[in-house]
Amino acid sequence: MISKTMEAALNHQIALEGYASQYYMAMASWCDREGFEGAAQFLHFQSEEEREHMLKIFHYLSEVDGFAITPAIEQPPLEFKNIQEVFSLVFEHEKKVTKSINDLVAICYKEHDYNTLNFLQWYVEEQREEENQARSILDKINLIGEGGQSKYYIDKELTKFYQAALAKEAAGEEGA
Ligand code: FEO
Repeated sequence: MISKTMEAALNHQIALEGYASQYYMAMASWCDREGFEGAAQFLHFQSEEEREHMLKIFHYLSEVDGFAITPAIEQPPLEFKNIQEVFSLVFEHEKKVTKSINDLVAICYKEHDYNTLNFLQWYVEEQREEENQARSILDKINLIGEGGQSKYYIDKELTKFYQAALAKEAAGEEGA
C-alpha cells in the first residue's frame, strides 16, 4: 500500500504531465496556424507522449492500491510571440518536470518507498532525454536566427526532430 504522501505527490505529477500534454497541443495549434507544419507535427507527437507519461503514473497508482486522480483540464496559453518563444517555453516546462521528478525521487527515499523509486527510474532517464531534446531544438532555432527564409529552415529542422522521435518510438516498439 502506497503512503498518502507518495500518493499525493504522484497525483501532482499526473496533473503536471496532463498539463504538458494540453500545453504542447495548444502550441501545435499555434504552429499550424503560422505555417510551421513540421513544428506542429512534432508538438502533437510530444503532446501524445505527455499523455502517455500521465497514464503510466495513473496505472501505477492503481496497481499499488492508490487513488489515481483525473486532473482538471486547465486552459493553456493559446498565443505565442514567435517560434523561439514556443520552444523556450517547452524547454522551461521540461526543466520544471525534471525538478518535479527529482522531488518525487527524494520523497521515495524519505518514505522508504523503493517500489516507486524503481518505477521512477524510467522518468529520470526520459527527462534527461526530453530536456536535452528541447535544448537542442532551441539551439538550432537560435543558430538559424531571424532573417529571410529562417522560418522555412526552422520548420525543416523541426520535421527532422519529429522524424527522429518517430524512429525512436518505432525502435522501442520493436525492442518491446
Ligand atoms: Fe513528461 Fe516531457 O515531461
